[in-house]
Formats: sequence, C-alpha cells, structure tokens
Amino acid sequence: MAPPVIKQLSNKPANVFGKLLLFSGLIMYTMYILSSNHHWCQSSTLFPNSNHPSNDPDSISYSPTNITHIVFGISGSSRAWNNKKWYVESWWKPNTTRGFLFLDRPPTEFLPWPLTIDPPFRVSENTSKYKEYDRHPVPYAIRMARVIVETFKAQNKGVRWYVMSDDDTIFFTNNLVEVLGRYDHRKHYYIGRNSECVVNNVWGSFEMGFGGAGFALSYPLAEALAKNLDIDLRGDISGLLSAHPQSPLLSLHHLDAVKPIFPLLNRYESLYHLMKAAKADESRLLQQTVCYHKQTNCTFSISWGYSAHIYETFFPPSILQKPIETFVPWKKGAFPPYMFNTRLPSNDPCEAPHVFFFDTVEQSIGGRIVLSYTRRWERKLPACSASGNRSADHIAKIHVVSPVGRLISGAGSRRECCDVLRVSDMNATVIKLRACLKDEMLA
Ligand SMILES: *[C@@H]1O[C@H](CO)[C@@H](O)[C@H](O)[C@H]1NC(C)=O
Ligand SMILES: *[C@@H]1O[C@H](CO)[C@@H](O)[C@H](O)[C@H]1NC(C)=O
Ligand SMILES: *[C@@H]1O[C@H](CO)[C@@H](O)[C@H](O)[C@H]1NC(C)=O
Ligand SMILES: *[C@@H]1O[C@H](CO)[C@@H](O)[C@H](O)[C@H]1NC(C)=O
Ligand SMILES: *[C@@H]1O[C@H](CO)[C@@H](O)[C@H](O)[C@H]1NC(C)=O
Ligand SMILES: *[C@@H]1O[C@H](CO)[C@@H](O)[C@H](O)[C@H]1NC(C)=O
Repeated sequence: MAPPVIKQLSNKPANVFGKLLLFSGLIMYTMYILSSNHHWCQSSTLFPNSNHPSNDPDSISYSPTNITHIVFGISGSSRAWNNKKWYVESWWKPNTTRGFLFLDRPPTEFLPWPLTIDPPFRVSENTSKYKEYDRHPVPYAIRMARVIVETFKAQNKGVRWYVMSDDDTIFFTNNLVEVLGRYDHRKHYYIGRNSECVVNNVWGSFEMGFGGAGFALSYPLAEALAKNLDIDLRGDISGLLSAHPQSPLLSLHHLDAVKPIFPLLNRYESLYHLMKAAKADESRLLQQTVCYHKQTNCTFSISWGYSAHIYETFFPPSILQKPIETFVPWKKGAFPPYMFNTRLPSNDPCEAPHVFFFDTVEQSIGGRIVLSYTRRWERKLPACSASGNRSADHIAKIHVVSPVGRLISGAGSRRECCDVLRVSDMNATVIKLRACLKDEMLA
C-alpha cells in the first residue's frame, strides 16, 4: 500500500522565493492528484488508518474536531449531476455537513434546488478571462484548483479543514473526522493520496475503487493558497505537470464502468447496501479480520460489511491481505500493473475461497452488532484433500458478531482478532470479533 501524502508545510517561508516554491509544490501535488483521478486513476480511499502525526505538545489546546469543522468543496458538472448526485446523497447529511457543490454552469434541472438532500450549489467562476489558464493543458484541473479558493471564500468561519473531492467521491464522514482530528489544523497540512491507483488490502476482491480520492487542506494552508494561487499559476505549472510521470501504474475501471460491488444488486443498490453497514459501524467498514477453525482446518477472512471468505486450509494474514486479482489494470500490458501485491484467482480447492457477501445487519440487544453474510454461488470444487477433505460447501451463512463502539485505529493499533464459535450443527457459522490477545500471531 502506498503511503499517503501527508505534508506539513513550513509556517514561515523564508522569503518570497521560498513561498513560491512552497505553493508550487502544493499545487503540483494537488494537480497530480486531480489529474491522476481523471486521466488514469481511481483512488479507492482517501485516508489510511495507520498514520499518526508525531506527538504534538500543542494539540491539547483545542476542542476535538467534529463534522462542523470540515467544509467540503465538491466539483461537479451540471450535465452529469443527474448521474452523480446519488453518490453525494449517500453520505451528505443536510444541516450537518458543510460545503458546496461547484458546478461548471448554472443548472437547468432540479430547481428549486433540494437543499434537504443535496449540498447547496455554486457555479464556478468562469476562468476563461485568465489567459494563463487557457494555455493550460488540463483546463479541468484549473477549475478544480480554483474550487479550493472559491470554497475558502464561500465559507471560512469556524473551519479547520477543507476537503476537496469529486461528485462521485463517497466519504465516510465519521472516519474522516477521526483521522483529521489527529492533525493540528492550525498548521499547514496537506493530506491526500499520492499516485494512488490502488485498492488497499481491505478492499480485498473489490472490483472497483470508489471515486476520486479527494484531499484535505488545513485552514491556514487553504487561506494562504487562496491568496497565492494566481501568483503560482503564472509560474510554470505546466512545466511541473509535464514532469509529472506519465506512466500510469494502473487504474481500476472508472466508477461508472465497473461492476456493481455486490452480486444481484445494481450500482446504486450496492452503494446503499454498503452504507447500511457503514451506518452501523463506520470504523470497522472493510476492516479485515482473519481467524481459524482448527477442528476443520479452515481459515475465515472477513471484510467487515462487505465479504467473507472461507478457505479449506490455513493461510496466514500476510497472504490473505493480498487482494485476489478479480480486477484488471486500466492500461493493458502495463507492467508491473499494480502498486501492491496481489494473488491470482485459483481453481485449486485448497486455494480458492468460498465467497459470501454481506447481507443483513442487526443491532442486537446486549451491545453487539450482528452482520450476516450469504453465499451467493456454489464454489463448485471438490474439498481440499491435503487438509483432510473437509468441504465447507454446506455453510450457507456466516454471522459476524462485533462489539458496539468504534474500532480504535491509528498508530500502534492492530487488526482485530476473531473466534469461530460454531461451525458444524447448523449450516451457519458464527464468528465473534474481539481485541487480539497480547501474543496472538498476526502476521
Ligand atoms: C463541534 O465543536 C464545537 C467546538 O469547536 C462545538 O461548539 C460544537 O457544538 C461541536 N459540534 C458537534 C456537532 O459536535
Ligand atoms: C435544516 O435546517 C432548517 C432550518 O434550520 C430546517 O428548516 C430543515 O428542516 C432542516 N433540514 C433537515 C433535513 O434537517
Ligand atoms: C466563459 O466565458 C467565455 C467568454 O466570456 C464564454 O465564451 C464561455 O462560454 C464561458 N463559459 C461558461 C462555462 O460559462
Ligand atoms: C488438517 O490438515 C492436516 C494436514 O495439513 C492433516 O494432517 C489433518 O488431519 C487435518 N485435520 C483435520 C481435522 O482434518
Ligand atoms: C481426500 O480424498 C481423496 C479422494 O477422494 C483421497 O485420495 C485423499 O487421500 C483424501 N485425503 C485425505 C487427507 O483424507
Ligand atoms: C445443511 O447442509 C446439508 C448439506 O448441504 C443439508 O443436507 C442440510 O439440509 C442443511 N441443513 C439445514 C438446516 O439447512
């Protein structure tokens, strides 16, 4: 998994030259992300959960960051809004999330604008008056960069973070708040994904990535950028962009071209289905947990809220965290195609998992969340003979029980562990997630 780009920029640029360099750098990164999203890359995730800023003595002196401290700047186009709005509506919370949808031209449909479900819209400034912009090879990127400035100008009271995204980006806002809350918004932070064309391991066998990655700017950085953007664009942004590596490592298929993530559901239903799990517990969403059933030589690999796999033999997490290559690289023949290790799909009964998908979620009495995963197709392979010919074909459902309460992520935190509670009698297996024991093997 590629590391995220987390840049803390100096508060005191030594001189004008330093300042220029600083913002050129920012814009370069910004553009890099924007152009990477739109030309060859779909990022799956905005933030990692493994990164933590260094212990910061100042960080105690402000209140915890919450959703009202974040302003979203969403770039969209009037023509495409009809096809994109349901992505935004899946996560936007009217009267809670702050921000704007920036459209390229005034909308002619959907009026009066439904503020009870959608973000308020603004029409992006027409940049054609800036000659420098016109010459830019990627006019779309210019508009996106301007959106930062326009978002800042539109709303800057009580703001700690600006999060910029596309109209087909899906945010898990509780997780976003938690991760941004780890950084001191009073400093110059730029947080986003670099050349992230990857699904990270938690996405397992997803056949897609969700939308553009997006990136976050701390308030002082957005403020400085709003004042300096024009200066820098008169510099040699095109040069910087031309130096940008043009060797796409991969992309997943563009969002609208990928298969729905859940079998039997369309794209729209799939997203809302995933959101059902997200509503129950965002912090565990897609987190992978691996456990073993020694009596039957089986391995269970759970992706919370998405899928569950049963292997008829033992595999360590170090193998299972490599996604099975059910997806294809954007650019055919690119080698190596991915920024991460993968496993090839296999027809070997000892290697091919039984595949289950998230079906229902229940908040049970007693402070537990129970997810059910259902088998959608038979594996159609004999049992793995090397580990005792114990077929898992009879298992039709897997119930995953997890505690209510956010999973602590961040520095030094570990994957959760699990126990297989019941396998044989009924054709359903129950798996219970729990914190790992001190010496439990996780690799
Ligand atoms: C967010 O934090 C501010 C303090 O910075 C507080 O006034 C506000 O009530 C909080 N809002 C929510 C929704 O927690
Ligand atoms: C949002 O707030 C406005 C006024 O503050 C209220 O009229 C409206 O019903 C609220 N909408 C939602 C979805 O809560
Ligand atoms: C921007 O302005 C130019 C010239 O004034 C005009 O030709 C163009 O159509 C405008 N673009 C939009 C999106 O309104
Ligand atoms: C588990 O697999 C081993 C070989 O890896 C085999 O010797 C053993 O009998 C199997 N156990 C069961 C319960 O099938
Ligand atoms: C599994 O079954 C196959 C054929 O049915 C047999 O050859 C093999 O010895 C069996 N393996 C074990 C460990 O029982
Ligand atoms: C469990 O699976 C076995 C084997 O597929 C089947 O014969 C049996 O009817 C199933 N039992 C239940 C309760 O579904």
